[in-house]
Amino acid sequence: MRDSERFPLALTPTPLVEAASLSRILGGPRILIKRDDLTGRIVGGNKIRKLEYLLADARRAGATHVVTGGGAQSNHAAQTAVCARMAGLEALLVLSRPAPGLPCGNLLVHRLLGITPEYVDRYEPDDLEEAMQDCCRRLARAGNRPYLIPLGGSTVVGIRGYADCWHEIASQCRTLGVSPAAIYSATGTGGTLAGLLLGHLEAPAPCRLVGVDVGAIPGEGPLPRAEALVAEARGGPCPTLPVELNRRQIGPGYARPGPDCLTAMRLFLQTEGLLLDPAYTGKAAAALIVDIGAGRWQRDATVVFIHTGGAAGFFTEGMAAQLDNPPA
Ligand SMILES: Cc1ncc(COP(=O)(O)O)c(C=O)c1O
Repeated sequence: MRDSERFPLALTPTPLVEAASLSRILGGPRILIKRDDLTGRIVGGNKIRKLEYLLADARRAGATHVVTGGGAQSNHAAQTAVCARMAGLEALLVLSRPAPGLPCGNLLVHRLLGITPEYVDRYEPDDLEEAMQDCCRRLARAGNRPYLIPLGGSTVVGIRGYADCWHEIASQCRTLGVSPAAIYSATGTGGTLAGLLLGHLEAPAPCRLVGVDVGAIPGEGPLPRAEALVAEARGGPCPTLPVELNRRQIGPGYARPGPDCLTAMRLFLQTEGLLLDPAYTGKAAAALIVDIGAGRWQRDATVVFIHTGGAAGFFTEGMAAQLDNPPA
């Protein structure tokens, strides 16, 4: 895609930084952190790259509204609402009902924008998608032109943002003169992973992609979706790729951290001053730490960890409850 096919939002390239203290304390490989938490809108994060393509597509289609959704504290939904306004579009959000209590985290972002989300009672991807389609039908009947952005912005258009990220990492590694053995990233709906895979196919490298499943898609998980998106983007079946899905950090469930996640969050904060979140990046970091502890990566190897953002998820009542009563 050409640059004109993006609505400019992300401050890219995001830095690729050395995590020397973390690496030292783990006695492990060289660790580089791709700071996609610094994509530059709201509290940053991975969705901004996807939204550049999605919002450009919505504008090209003559949309008046975008409709999207997610879990109660969805980063994607809040980021879409903000960036849609920047692009001159209205946003309608369908979320799973938050726990009763004080609104916090991303819910405050919607409030500041004057958006009242519609709620479904359970966090079930199918229920959310159905409610979003219903919302589009209502908007269309009232004479509007809705543009549906599925959960996580994970469409063939949106994933292009993470193919870009792959190329960015490759170019930054070339400048540093390193060839990473692996790239770790949290994977929820699979779009970020699909984009990285697409980039990998466009510019292959001897590098393993480790997608750390956070439990957002119950059952089959995100890999079949990611592969289908890559196949759609390439107009043909997805060849066998050096990708693996790590499902060992789902813990008590989506958006609920297990003990390894909390340990990883503490370690990243203490060594690198980096805030991870309990739903995504904490779990991805936990997978990296466990793998290093098991001796998977040699000391002279380099691994890249993509910090996909999510800070708003830390400042929630759910997080306070976890810190008061940590999981066993
Ligand atoms: C902070 C963060 N990291 C990672 C992801 C996973 O991205 P994807 O849904 O594209 O797999 C999300 C998705 O919401 C996210 O908010």
